[in-house]
Amino acid sequence: MPKIKKEEKKKKPEEGRFQLLRGFRDVLPPEEKFFLLLEKKVSNLAKDYGFGRIRLPILEEAVLFARSVGKDTDIVEKEMFTFVDQNETTVTLRPEATASIARAYIEHGMLNWPQPVKLFYIEPMFRREKPQSGRYRQFYQFGFEFLGTAEPVIDAQLISIANKIFSELNLRESVSIEVNSLGCKNCREEYKQELLNFLKPKKKLLCEDCKKRMQKNPLRVLDCKEPSCQAVLADAPVLLDWLCDECKDHFMKVLEFLDQLEIIYNLNPRLIRGLDYYNKTVFEIWPTEKTGSQTALAGGGRYDSLIETLGGRATPAIGFSGGVERIISLLKQKGIEPRETGQAKVYLAQIGVQAKTKAIKLLEKFHNEGIIVAENLSKDNLKAQLEQANRLKVRYTLILGQKEVLDGTILIREMEGGVQEIVDYEKAVQEIKKKLSKT
Ligand code: HAM
Repeated sequence: MPKIKKEEKKKKPEEGRFQLLRGFRDVLPPEEKFFLLLEKKVSNLAKDYGFGRIRLPILEEAVLFARSVGKDTDIVEKEMFTFVDQNETTVTLRPEATASIARAYIEHGMLNWPQPVKLFYIEPMFRREKPQSGRYRQFYQFGFEFLGTAEPVIDAQLISIANKIFSELNLRESVSIEVNSLGCKNCREEYKQELLNFLKPKKKLLCEDCKKRMQKNPLRVLDCKEPSCQAVLADAPVLLDWLCDECKDHFMKVLEFLDQLEIIYNLNPRLIRGLDYYNKTVFEIWPTEKTGSQTALAGGGRYDSLIETLGGRATPAIGFSGGVERIISLLKQKGIEPRETGQAKVYLAQIGVQAKTKAIKLLEKFHNEGIIVAENLSKDNLKAQLEQANRLKVRYTLILGQKEVLDGTILIREMEGGVQEIVDYEKAVQEIKKKLSKT
């Protein structure tokens, strides 16, 4: 067991209670229906479009992220939960999944599978960011990745999948799809130089972060939210004007496909993305009503060199991920409630020890038949149980009292009309099945 700092050892018992770590949260049952809704939507779409689910480990070697996400990015520089394990291996709680996807593609020889390989995931990620609304240190992402294809039609198909998710969640009107091209290494390098030439004489007007960005990655200056930097950038050269013929042709084709699909997007020449592995098409999904700086609901793009950078054979790829908590927050903001599924239509009330024994057995029978029955076996009071049945809006309540136990019967109460009938205990499941199938 690793050593616990003296201060930590002392603090907890004195305070008398433990609390969540900063930036972490518990998802309590009332919120679960939102997570289920998103999981279902993503899994169904993935199935329809032929994506296979991949479950990735939470821990990876730290160097995997430095090499893929980029050592000068905020994620790698400041936000990773990294530690040395007992074998002296430096490991990281993954801040994102694309690096692991690329590692898995190489490790499992997926280049021998039919291409493109289509993978999806829904997994927690970890970033030690400054916590604020919509920005957590553990958050869930779903993602779709195409590996082994450079075709522009795939870029459009991926964007159309993202578009579909938001449409099917009834959020399409509340979001915009921002699209840009980052070009390839060659055209981006030329543009970087041009951008630097433009920024140098105005350096003193930029925020402190952007002054540093100019040295490390001048492109990141483009998506700075500081008004002073925004003002400087108003006449900045635009990357799209610097694309080489191949990159321009690729991007034009992507946009044509999007037009054919009637997907509305916003061509955003300032969209840069915060991870280094991207080239060519990039996109993000933003809420139309901005509520802070951390607003992207989803983001992704091409990463044609990543697999090669990690030691695999050159394999073009593209993908995107969505932030589950941020999308849920938008659903709540828009008053969109997931429909409850699997709600009980039947309640089983019981009074007395013998009734409890029979009730437990009966619940098993209902369970085996796939009928959900609500109950509260810890209660003895009929009134309290009927109140709960009312609250749950079940259609039928089964009542097992002492009399019914002795007679080998059970009472079925129809909640709406209050009509009650006595049936044979052994036939309870059959009777309820019959009644539920009628309406
Ligand atoms: P990303 O833009 O860093 O991309 O993250 C994708 C989404 O995850 C964001 O748009 C946001 O909704 C959510 N997200 C990010 N950080 C947080 C946070 N601290 N709290 C809550 N939500 C957050 C990637 O991670 C790439 N791997 C996407 C990708 C897949 N590119 C290609 N394939």
